[in-house]
Amino acid sequence: MAKNFTPKGNEATGAAKAVARAHAVYTPLALTFYDIIVHGLSNRFAWQCPTSRLTALYEANVSANHLEAGVGTGLFLDRSGKADFDRLVLLDINRNCLTRAARRLARFRPTLREVNLLESIAPPMAPFDSVGLTYVLHCLPGSMSEKLKAIDHLRPVMGEGAVLFGATILGRGGTPNRAARALFRVYNAKGVFDNREDDAEALSEGLKQRFETVEIDRQGCVALFRAKSAKGSLPLPLDGH
Ligand SMILES: C[S@@+](CC[C@H](N)C(=O)[O-])C[C@H]1O[C@@H](n2cnc3c(N)ncnc32)[C@H](O)[C@@H]1O
Repeated sequence: MAKNFTPKGNEATGAAKAVARAHAVYTPLALTFYDIIVHGLSNRFAWQCPTSRLTALYEANVSANHLEAGVGTGLFLDRSGKADFDRLVLLDINRNCLTRAARRLARFRPTLREVNLLESIAPPMAPFDSVGLTYVLHCLPGSMSEKLKAIDHLRPVMGEGAVLFGATILGRGGTPNRAARALFRVYNAKGVFDNREDDAEALSEGLKQRFETVEIDRQGCVALFRAKSAKGSLPLPLDGH
């Protein structure tokens, strides 16, 4: 299996630790408070992006053949307005998230995949028509180009014309308020976030290298994005991928 993120020796241990720190916070107990803390309070008072913006993104883009990458508690799929799915796969590195989201979304009979997005997805899956990736990139360790390897691992499971959409909290640009600055400090120190260097330009550039159509909309500290390759075309090849 190709390991795209982890180099050798001590660096490998450091990288694996950084990946682990990014999701260790999601214990069963923490997940009972997650929706209220993140989507109830932080979005409004710190990130200044109403949760309704994210819900609308899901309502507009979730297809009947959907992969949710970094599912958390499954809140957005629950609120996406979908009556049912032909196929719904929930992917996450953290088993607690998968278990909790699967319980919440049981009516859709989801399939679960425990996967580190910074490694290739194996065994491969049949293509999806939509992939959600919300509030995951700012957790992943490394520069924006290292984080976007997660998208390189998702592209092979995207069908022709499939849409990738989601959001990420940017550490640069904009004017974070006092609450946002305090949360950036705490979360980056703990390794829950690694977004101090993340900016809209690097995100936009990285998406444009990979997809034909890219839309990014900034709301407060949050970049909402949507990216698509045209029907009949394969995802754009990238050097070294
Ligand atoms: C901040 S939560 C976002 C959850 C959900 N998408 C939401 O917006 O509420 C980040 C999610 O990404 C997952 N995650 C973090 N690092 C990951 C990795 N390397 N591979 C796969 N999932 C990861 C976490 O376990 C968690 O479910």
